[in-house]
Amino acid sequence: MSMQQGWEPHRLRMQSRIVGAQGAEQSAASFLDPVLYNSPPHRLGRKHGNIFQSYLPLHLTRKVLLFMNIIVTGGAGFIGSNFIFHMLKKYPQDRIICLDCLTYAGNLSTLAPVMDNPNFRFVKESITDRDAVYRLFEEEHPDIVVNFAAESHVDRSIVNPDIFLETNIHGTTILMDACRKYGIKRYHQVSTDEVYGDLPLDRPDLFFTEETPIHTSSPYSSSKASADLFVLAYHRTYGLPVSISRCSNNYGPYHFPEKLIPLMIINALHDEALPVYGAGENVRDWLYVEDHCRAIDLIIHEGRVGEVYNVGGHNEMRNIDIVTMICDALGKPHSLIKHVEDRKGHDMRYAIDPTKIHEELGWLPETRFKDGIALTIQWYLDHEDWWQPIISGEYQNYYQNMYGSRKEV
Ligand code: NAD
Ligand code: TYD
Repeated sequence: MSMQQGWEPHRLRMQSRIVGAQGAEQSAASFLDPVLYNSPPHRLGRKHGNIFQSYLPLHLTRKVLLFMNIIVTGGAGFIGSNFIFHMLKKYPQDRIICLDCLTYAGNLSTLAPVMDNPNFRFVKESITDRDAVYRLFEEEHPDIVVNFAAESHVDRSIVNPDIFLETNIHGTTILMDACRKYGIKRYHQVSTDEVYGDLPLDRPDLFFTEETPIHTSSPYSSSKASADLFVLAYHRTYGLPVSISRCSNNYGPYHFPEKLIPLMIINALHDEALPVYGAGENVRDWLYVEDHCRAIDLIIHEGRVGEVYNVGGHNEMRNIDIVTMICDALGKPHSLIKHVEDRKGHDMRYAIDPTKIHEELGWLPETRFKDGIALTIQWYLDHEDWWQPIISGEYQNYYQNMYGSRKEV
């Protein structure tokens, strides 16, 4: 049998493992890469039985094969974890390294389904720890970094802005310094529509475009906007290949219980008060989390460097309507709804114009709100084992501090 015959792709896919020069093993699930087809295999390594021994270190072998090493920060949180699931499923040959320091919002149990995947690694470090970040870059030689890591709750930012500056701004610059030092194909910053401030309720014709001026309201949105400015500055000043996505409110599985939708589902299940801030007329533009993950996937692979992409699905809803819908879906009385003291500086309306990402990258949301909210409610009904440990720990103190003295209005 000639050497070439030994490289029949279906055999490699079914039987082979790749062993890099350093001896580490990888699944060879997608040895079907065109580059491999077109390169004489004996230049890359040697095959012993069903094991491919590469002449190159593992990370270089992977690069020759166009496999990506992707660092996902904040991957133990809500959107980051959904993104990791999406990526490992869609690109089983890529290696995902999750960098997360597991704050109150990070849960290792969320990542349990992928912990045994040979193309996944979890690293418990902070993006604010420069040495740890540099060490990880030296170990993993990432091609892409997607930064989800952040303090993400507006109410917490109102109580304690400091940590928002540290994580959201300084953490972002440390990650980008590492990208500059070690080289990168793409640094992607996961940002928010909140950097645009808010829109008035009586102007439904207005939407946030990528040209809308930054005009923040909360310490959270100010920290995210500052980070965005640094990202664009690193592109202009150092030529770092960056992109930014600014998405509207997400909902779906693994959403931390402090946020509106999971908080209302869990309180309603316990027949507890549903605390709506003020009149509940504030409008958010809700997007199912998987649609956001698909948008980021498209941007990092096909989006233009140096660009900002707004992500949203034209799905504006008033808070009070969402809470009422959750009551109805769970068969709970509307009398559970309590209007309480408003959030300080509460943004009135967010609404995204997603024309750019649609026209340039063909992105459209796929999940209608009525389907997404039903899926989400069912997920919380089915996954009490996920949220019960969260709400029984430190969360109780948080809840007491945040809501205990909030007057009904
Ligand atoms: P989340 O609070 O659920 O998760 C944040 C994750 O980041 C957690 O796992 C936490 O442990 C980790 N983290 C925090 N500080 C860290 C640090 N110093 N080092 C490493 N890890 C750290 O947040 P989310 O809702 O998943 O949001 C993810 C990103 O998306 C954030 O950047 C947020 O600003 C942005 N975003 C969120 C929404 C939304 O609706 N949730 C909408 C648009 C944009
Ligand atoms: P939230 O989920 O905190 O997201 P964001 O502030 O980033 O939009 O809140 C969504 C909306 O719900 C916002 O207008 C505030 C409101 N809200 C309540 O009315 N009650 C609550 O207990 C919470 C957490 C939020």
